Amino acid sequence: MIHARKSVQIVGRNTIKTEELVEDLGAGATAAAPGDALEGRIVILAISHDAAKKVVSDYSSQLAGKVVVHISNTVDPANFDRLTVPSGTSGAEEVADLLPDDVPVVKAFNTCFAGPREKGAVGSVPLDVFIAGDSEEAKARLSAVVAASGLRPIDSGPLRRARELEAFMLVVMGLQVNPEHPRFNWDTALKILP
Ligand SMILES: NC(=O)c1ccc[n+]([C@@H]2O[C@H](COP(=O)([O-])OP(=O)(O)OC[C@H]3O[C@@H](n4cnc5c(N)ncnc54)[C@H](OP(=O)(O)O)[C@@H]3O)[C@@H](O)[C@H]2O)c1
Repeated sequence: MIHARKSVQIVGRNTIKTEELVEDLGAGATAAAPGDALEGRIVILAISHDAAKKVVSDYSSQLAGKVVVHISNTVDPANFDRLTVPSGTSGAEEVADLLPDDVPVVKAFNTCFAGPREKGAVGSVPLDVFIAGDSEEAKARLSAVVAASGLRPIDSGPLRRARELEAFMLVVMGLQVNPEHPRFNWDTALKILP
C-alpha cells in the first residue's frame, strides 16, 4: 500500500471496519467515530456524493482551516449512462456550496480506481491525480501529499473543472461495464502520457 508517511485519522461509523482499516494502515493511523473532533488539515470525503453532502453539513463548524477533498464520481451506477448532478455544476461544487466560502473544496482522485490507487501505479506507471479547485494554497497542500505518495499531481484548474473530471468518468466507466472492452476494467487509470 502506498502512502505519504503522514498521520491519518479514519472517521467511520462502523467501529469494527474502522479499526480493521487502521490496523491495516499501521503506524500513524488512528480511528475516530462520527462527531469526534477532526485532527487533520486535509479532509478526504471517501464516501458517496450523497453521503458527502450530509457529512460536510454535519461537520461544517469543524472545517475552518482545512482543505476538503471531494473524490466522488457522480456517474449513475444504475445505467452508467448519465450523471446524477445537473449540467452546469459538479458534485464538488455542490459540496462547496454547502460550506462557508473560506473552506476550500478540491476535486481529486476521482479518476483513480481503488486498486491502482492502492498500488500507486498501473504496471510501472505512476498514477496521475487531477486536482481542481479555486484555492491555490489548498491545491498546493494536497499536491504535496500526492507527490510524497509517489503519484503525479496535476493542477487542472478551477473547481469548475470538476465538471469535466466527473463527466469524463462517464466515458471511462461506460467502457468498463461494456463487455466489448474487457481490457478497460477497474485496474485501469486515467493518465496523460508521458
Ligand atoms: N472505489 C473506487 O475505485 C473509486 C474510484 C474513484 C472515486 N471513488 C469515489 O470514492 C467514494 C467511495 O467509494 P467506495 O468505492 O470506497 O465506496 P464504498 O465501498 O461504497 O464505501 C463507502 C464508505 O462510505 C461509508 N458511508 C456511507 N454512507 C456514509 C455516511 N452517511 N456517513 C459516513 N460514512 C458513510 C461506508 O461506511 P459503512 O461501512 O459504515 O457503510 C463505506 O465505508 C465514492 O464517492 C466514489 O465515487 C471510488
